[in-house]
Amino acid sequence: MLTFNSYLVLSAFVHSTLGLIQTPNFAADVIRTQQLEASWDATIEKRDDVPAGYVAPPYYPTPKGGWVGSWTDSYAKAAKVVANMTLAEKVNLTSGTGLLMGPCVGNTGSALRFGIPNLCLQDSALGIAATDNATAFPAGITTGATFNKALMYARGYALGEEARGKGVNIQLGPTIGPLGRKPRGGRGWEGFGADPVLQGFGGSETIKGMQANGVIATVKHFIGNEQEMYRMDIPPHGLMKAISSNIDDRTLHELYAWPFMDAIKVGVGAVMTSYNDVNGSACSQNSKLINGILKDEFGFQGLVMTDWLAQIGGVSSALAGLDMAMPGDGNTPLLGLAYWAYDLSTSVLNGTVPLERLNDMVTRIVATWYQFGQDQDYPLPNFSANTADPTGPCYPGALISPTCVTNEYVNVQGNHASVARNISREGITLLKNDNNTLPLSTQAVLKIFGSEAQNNPAGMNACNQRSCDTGILGMGWGSGTANYPYLDAPIDAIKRKAANVTYYSSDSFPSGITALSGDIAIVFINSDSGENQYTVEGNHGDRDASGLVSWHNGDALVQAAAAKYATVIVVVHTVGPIVVEPWINLPSVKSLVFAHLPGQEAGNSLTDILFGDYSPSGHLPYSIPVAESDYPSSIGIVGFEFFQVQDTFSEGLYIDYRYLNKNGITPRYAFGHGLSYTTFSKSSITLTAVTPLSTLPPARAAKGSTPVYSTAIPPASEVAWPTGFSAIWRYLYPYLDDPASISSAINFTYPVGYQTTPQPAPAAGGDEGGNPALWDVMFTLSVTVTNTGSVAGKDTVMAFVQYPSDSSYDTPIIQLRDFEKTDTLAPQGSQTLTLSLTRRDLSVWDTTKQNWVIPVSSSEPFVFWVGNSTANLTIACESLSKACSAGRPSPVV
Ligand SMILES: *[C@@H]1O[C@H](CO)[C@@H](O)[C@H](O)[C@H]1NC(C)=O
Ligand SMILES: *[C@@H]1O[C@H](CO)[C@@H](O)[C@H](O)[C@H]1NC(C)=O
Ligand SMILES: *[C@@H]1O[C@H](CO)[C@@H](O)[C@H](O)[C@H]1NC(C)=O
Ligand SMILES: *[C@@H]1O[C@H](CO)[C@@H](O)[C@H](O)[C@H]1NC(C)=O
Ligand SMILES: *[C@@H]1O[C@H](CO)[C@@H](O)[C@H](O)[C@H]1NC(C)=O
Ligand SMILES: *[C@@H]1O[C@H](CO)[C@@H](O)[C@H](O)[C@H]1NC(C)=O
Ligand SMILES: *[C@@H]1O[C@H](CO)[C@@H](O)[C@H](O)[C@H]1NC(C)=O
Ligand SMILES: *[C@@H]1O[C@H](CO)[C@@H](O)[C@H](O)[C@H]1NC(C)=O
Ligand SMILES: *[C@@H]1O[C@H](CO)[C@@H](O)[C@H](O)[C@H]1NC(C)=O
Repeated sequence: MLTFNSYLVLSAFVHSTLGLIQTPNFAADVIRTQQLEASWDATIEKRDDVPAGYVAPPYYPTPKGGWVGSWTDSYAKAAKVVANMTLAEKVNLTSGTGLLMGPCVGNTGSALRFGIPNLCLQDSALGIAATDNATAFPAGITTGATFNKALMYARGYALGEEARGKGVNIQLGPTIGPLGRKPRGGRGWEGFGADPVLQGFGGSETIKGMQANGVIATVKHFIGNEQEMYRMDIPPHGLMKAISSNIDDRTLHELYAWPFMDAIKVGVGAVMTSYNDVNGSACSQNSKLINGILKDEFGFQGLVMTDWLAQIGGVSSALAGLDMAMPGDGNTPLLGLAYWAYDLSTSVLNGTVPLERLNDMVTRIVATWYQFGQDQDYPLPNFSANTADPTGPCYPGALISPTCVTNEYVNVQGNHASVARNISREGITLLKNDNNTLPLSTQAVLKIFGSEAQNNPAGMNACNQRSCDTGILGMGWGSGTANYPYLDAPIDAIKRKAANVTYYSSDSFPSGITALSGDIAIVFINSDSGENQYTVEGNHGDRDASGLVSWHNGDALVQAAAAKYATVIVVVHTVGPIVVEPWINLPSVKSLVFAHLPGQEAGNSLTDILFGDYSPSGHLPYSIPVAESDYPSSIGIVGFEFFQVQDTFSEGLYIDYRYLNKNGITPRYAFGHGLSYTTFSKSSITLTAVTPLSTLPPARAAKGSTPVYSTAIPPASEVAWPTGFSAIWRYLYPYLDDPASISSAINFTYPVGYQTTPQPAPAAGGDEGGNPALWDVMFTLSVTVTNTGSVAGKDTVMAFVQYPSDSSYDTPIIQLRDFEKTDTLAPQGSQTLTLSLTRRDLSVWDTTKQNWVIPVSSSEPFVFWVGNSTANLTIACESLSKACSAGRPSPVV
C-alpha cells in the first residue's frame, strides 16, 4: 500500500522536475482523494455561479468523427481496426499511462495487435522540451512579430522534423490561446500576438509545417486561459475550483475561438482543452465547447485531450466529448488512480458511457494516427523527458521499475539554427531610431550595460523549465520551453562584430564612468513571465508582481545611462508590452529595439540588425500603451476569491488596439509599428470583387457518414487482467479485478440536457473549420510596394477592415484581416502583394441567428485600410465603388 512518505517524495520530485502540482497540503489530499475516488463524476455543466448572461448550455451527444471528405480514407482504415478491438485495447488508446510512466510527458496505452504503440505526447510550442540536441526556436511572440507567413511555416516544419526525429507522435503545440487579452498574462508569449488573425495565421502555418512531417500537432489551450493564477482545480474538487473565464458567445467566436477555426481548417490533428472553466463549466468537460463548438460547428475530426491533470470527472468528460485523458491520472498523480483507464472500462460495462462514445474516441485517435501516416515507419521515442542519463528506470513513477535505454541523444537539429536565426532577426522590431542612430558602425565605441546581455553564469539551462530570469531572456518559463543546445548571448555576438566594446554586466549603473563624446551606450533590459507552477521574483506565472515594468530596475539603468551618454540604444527582451515612459523621451535615448524572445540565436540575430547587415522588418504583435491604466480594469489579473475566481470578459471584443481605438487613446507604439532602415512607397492599389456579398453564407452541405459499429456491450472478460500479466505498480491499465461483477442494470443520473439523438447540424458548420463558404474570398487587394530608400529591406502590408457605418453590430473601428510581407527588396526594387478578404473576415457572429452574418449595406461601404500599423492608415479602398485612395484621414488616433 502506498505510504504518505513515498507519495511525498514523489510529489516533491514531480513538483521540482515537472512542476505540475501546486497543492499546498499533500497528505490531506491523499486521504480525501481516495475517499472521492469512487464517485468521480464531477458536476458537468455550470459548477458555480457566474455572472448573469454567461452560459455553459448542455450540448449532447458528441458528434462522431469521420464525416468530412479529407478524412474519409483514414476513418475507413481506423474503422476496420476499431471494429476488431477489444474493450481493453480501446480504453488503452484513450488513457494516459500516468505521470512519469513512460519516456514522454504523456504516454497512452498501446494496441500492439494493430501495430499501434504507446503514443508519445511531448511539449512544446518552441522546441522538443526536456531533451538534448534539439533547437530552441524563437518563441511564438517573436514569430508573430515577423508578420511573415513563410517563416511561420518554416519554423513549424523544422519543429515537426525535430519531433519526428525524436519519436514524438503528438507534439504539444502550437499555442494559440491565450490570445494575449491580458498584457500581464503569463503565457501570451507562447502564441503569436494579441489579435485573432495574427494568431490564426501563426497557428495554422505552424500546424501545416509540423504535420507535413507526419507529426500530429496540438492546438492549445481551448479556451480562455488568459491568466495563469488560479487556473487549476485544487484537489479535492470544490476546495477551490479553477478560475472561470466568462465569455459571451460573440466574443468567443470573433476573438478567442477564431484561431482555433483556422487550425481546424488546415486539418490540425489534436486539440488540448485548458485548465480553466468557461462560463462555470470546466473546459475538459464543457459539452458546449467540445461537442457543440469544436466537433459540430467547427467540424473537428481529430482528438481532444485534456491539459495535464485537468480532468475532473470520468463519465462527465466522456459524455462532453473528451477523447484522451492526459497524463492519465486523476487530478492527484502517482496514486495509480484514474478517471479513465480501468474506470472507463467500468463505465462502458455498466452501460453509463455508451459504447458508441468510446468507439468514437478510439476511432478519432486511430484515424488521426493514419491521417498523418504514422502507421508507416514512424520512429519510437528515442529520448526521455524524465532524465538526461543514457539508461534509467522506464517508469520513474513506479519507484521499482525495469531499466530502459532512456536517451539515444539523437541530433535532430539539422540546419534549423539558420531557420531560428532568420526568425529571431526578422522578429526584431525597431520602435524608435532618431537620427538614424542605428545601424551602428563596427568601429563605434560601444559601452554595453546590463546583465541581460550575457548568459546566466550558472548555465544556460540552470533553471528548471527556464524558471528564473538571470541573463539573456530567450524564452519565458514553464512547459512551453526547451533546453538550449547553445545560447548565443548578445554580448558575445557584439564582441565578435565590433572593434571597441566595453561590457558592464551589473544591473546597477557603475560609478566613476566617464563618457566620451562619441561613445554609444547599449542598455539591455527584460521582462519575463511563464507558467503558474513557478513563481519567479514574486511573479506567479503572470506578471502580477512586476506589472508592465522591466525587471531588475531596468528603467533606472536606462535613465542612468541616458544621463551620462549622448547616445543610448535600449534593447528589450520581453514576453509582452512594457511601459517605456520613464525614459523613452529622454533626449539621449535615440533607439529602442524590441527583440522579443529570440531563443538560442539571441546574439547573431541581434547583431545582424544592430550593425546593418539586415534592415529590421519586425512589427509589434501588440500595442504598447502609455500607461497600463489605459486599458480597462477587466483585463487585469483577477485576484483571490473563495471557491472560484471569476474572470469576466466584460470588455468583449475590445482588447488591445480595439479598445484603445474605441476610446480614442493613443498608444506609445501602435499594434504593427516597426521601423526600417529604408523607406517604402505603396502604389497601384486595387480592390477586386471576387464573390458577391450576401448576408448569410450559402447553406452548408449535409454531413457525410461516420463509422458504424456493433453497440452490444462487449464481454466483461475483455478487461480482465490477462493471465500471467506482470503489472507495473501504479501504472494505469484498462483492466479490472472482477469485471464480471459489473452490472448494467443500475440507473445513472445523466446531466441536464443529456440526449443520445444527434443535434441538428449547425448552420455555421459544414466542414473542417465550419461552413467552407466562410473561406470564400470576397475581395482581393493588391498593392505594389517599392523600396524608395538606399538599403535593401522588407515591407509588410496589413489589411484592416472597417465595417459599414450603418451596421447595427457594435464592432471595433478597425480589425486586422490579412497581411503579407515582401521578399527582400533592393533599393528601387518593387513587388506586388495580394491580400485576401474572406467571408468570415467581413462577418460578425450573430448570436441570435447562430451564424456568421455580413452586414451588407447598399449605401455604406466596407472600408479596407492598407498600411503597416494601426497608426499609419492613410490608404483605403471601398467595397461599393472599388475605388482606392491615399492621403485619407486615419480612422483611429
Ligand atoms: C478484423 O476481423 C476480421 C474478421 O474477424 C478479419 O477478417 C480482419 O482481417 C480483421 N482486421 C484486422 C485489421 O485485424
Ligand atoms: C495496454 O497498454 C499496455 C501498455 O501501456 C500494455 O501493456 C497492454 O498489453 C495493452 N493492452 C492491450 C489489450 O493491448
Ligand atoms: C458506471 O461506472 C462509472 C465508473 O465507475 C461510475 O461513475 C458510474 O456511476 C457507474 N454507473 C452506474 C449506473 O453505477
Ligand atoms: C548530444 O548528443 C551527443 C551524442 O550524439 C551527446 O554526446 C551530447 O551530450 C548530447 N548533448 C547534450 C546536450 O546532451
Ligand atoms: C539629430 O541630429 C541633429 C544634428 O546633430 C540634432 O540637431 C537633433 O537634435 C537630433 N535629433 C534628435 C531627435 O536626436
Ligand atoms: C576604444 O576607444 C577608445 C576611445 O576612442 C580608445 O581610447 C581605445 O583605445 C579604443 N580601444 C581599442 C581596443 O581600440
Ligand atoms: C510604414 O508606412 C509608412 C506610411 O505609409 C511609411 O512611410 C513607412 O516607410 C513604412 N515603414 C515600414 C517599416 O514599412
Ligand atoms: C430507472 O429509472 C426509471 C425512471 O426513474 C425507473 O422507471 C426504472 O424503474 C429505473 N430502473 C431501475 C433498474 O432502477
Ligand atoms: C507612423 O506612425 C508613427 C506613430 O506610430 C509616427 O511616428 C510616424 O510619423 C507615422 N509615419 C507616417 C509616415 O505617417
